[in-house]
Formats: sequence, C-alpha cells, structure tokens
Amino acid sequence: MAKVLNFGSLNVDHVYTVEHFVRPGETISAKKLELFCGGKGLNQSIALARAGAEVYHAGAVGAQDGDALLATLERAGVHTELIQKLQTESGHAIIQVDANGQNSILIYGGANRMICREWVEDVLSRFSEGDFLVLQNEINCVRELIELAHARKMKIACNPSPIDESVQQLPLEDCDYLIVNEVEGQALCPDAAAGELLSRLHTKFPHSAVLLTLGADGARYLAPGMNEPIKQAAYRLPVKDTTAAGDTFMGYFIAKISNGYTASEALQFASAAAGIAVSRDGAEASIPTYAEVEAMLCEK
Ligand code: RIB
Repeated sequence: MAKVLNFGSLNVDHVYTVEHFVRPGETISAKKLELFCGGKGLNQSIALARAGAEVYHAGAVGAQDGDALLATLERAGVHTELIQKLQTESGHAIIQVDANGQNSILIYGGANRMICREWVEDVLSRFSEGDFLVLQNEINCVRELIELAHARKMKIACNPSPIDESVQQLPLEDCDYLIVNEVEGQALCPDAAAGELLSRLHTKFPHSAVLLTLGADGARYLAPGMNEPIKQAAYRLPVKDTTAAGDTFMGYFIAKISNGYTASEALQFASAAAGIAVSRDGAEASIPTYAEVEAMLCEK
C-alpha cells in the first residue's frame, strides 16, 4: 500500500449560522456559533484516513492552540509526527453558513503560512517513488513541494483551492491528479466556454488526470489516454452545510486510488462520502466513516 503524505493546512473553524451572508456595511446577529477542527488539509487527511489510506499529515500549528487539531487527526488514525508546533497562532477560518446550507469562508493563515523550504526537504526525504503527495493552496511553499516531490517521482494530487493569482505560477503540469471545481477550473482556463471546461483542462494539462467536481451535478474524470470522460452522478441528500464536501470527495478519491482501486470505483466512494458530508454540520465532523459510505453505496 502506497503511503500518502498530505502537506496541508490545519484551521480552527469558527462557524456562524446566519439567515444570509453579511453584506457590505451591514451588521447581523448569528443564530449560533460552533468551533470545529478544519482546514482543507486537515479535512482531507481525515477523509483519507477514514477511507483506509495510510496518511501522514505535515504542516504547522501554533504551540499554544494547536493541540486539539493534532488530537483530532490522531483520533482518525492520521500520523502527526510531521506537524511542527510554532510560536505563533494556528490558522483559523471564519465561516458563515446560511439558511440554504451554503457557506462563505474567510481564512487567516497563521502557522499554515510559515512553512520553510528546509522543512519541506526534510519531510519529503522520508517518502519515495510511488508514494502520494496531497496538496491544497492554504499553505506557503506549494511550488517547492510540487517541484521536489516530482523530482522524487512521487504521485502528486493537487486541489488548488482557494484559487488565487499564486496558483497561476505553480507547475501544475507536474501534478498526476488535478482536482478542481468549476470556479477553479475556469480560473485555470479563463477562455473555456460552458461545457468545454473539462476538455480544455485536459488539453492544458496533458499529463494529469483531471477530476472536475460539479456539486449537485456530480463529477467528471478525464485522464491521459482516455477519449471519453467518466461521469459520476452526485448522491443527493438534504443539504445542511456544504463545508468540507470537496475535501471529503478528494480524500476518499485519492485514498481509493492509492489503494489500487479504479477511477470509477474511487469516484463512487468519493461521491457517496461527499453526499453524506453535505447532510451534516461542520467540516471534519461531517466526514463519514467508511462503514457509513459502504452502507450508502449498498442502498443505491
Ligand atoms: O474546505 C473547507 C475548509 O476551508 C474549512 O474547514 C476552512 O478551514 C477552510 O480552510
């Protein structure tokens, strides 16, 4: 079984339940405040572990406020010895969830953005050809991680989220798996017309398997050598909170791929897992166990 290294963010999520997202100049009262462990990196590591991967999380938390983040990963079976504790604050997110279960997220990087190249080199030296590296865009040093992992012949799975200017400078063509939603895909191929986004991404990144997630419309997968994409329908459950649905999808998908399943099989597990995640509150807390995903697949 390949090892999976997830070098990624860890956040304390402050989740405010609101009737609607606060507008410019407006002050509104939240109905509820809850604290959850989150961060795209942490969520993906939990999903990877629940889906049966051997996961090592690397990154950084604050020395004073990071213990809960580490404990949450450990409870899920994720190795945490590659997470540094730094004399600063952990990353955090301010999340509004509206009456339709949609979210709006503001992140503060904190320790997530204090990764240094020496630490990246040290961590990667413990992994070898065929091991997986999972990345998002909530930490610094993403470029170095892609370059060095590619040189080590690791398999790189990147979800360039949140998408911003810095992503355009990344060597994404060296990623084996590129996992994007429509907004991220459109930012990478700004000229693509509706309906041709997947083929344009496939042309732009000919050596990468592209996985385009489409929310309620499911997902599409197109890899080098394939003429037609695999189409995966969404598992539709009542929506409570969409936070971490994409992270759950990615974690389950890569776990299954790293354990030797086909892309079609991995897509089914990922889709069922994400369907369950949107029907629950929170980020990490909404990620289903493997038994729950299997039960969902048996029902269909
Ligand atoms: O994808 C959801 C995550 O985005 C949240 O947990 C939040 O921390 C932000 O990173």
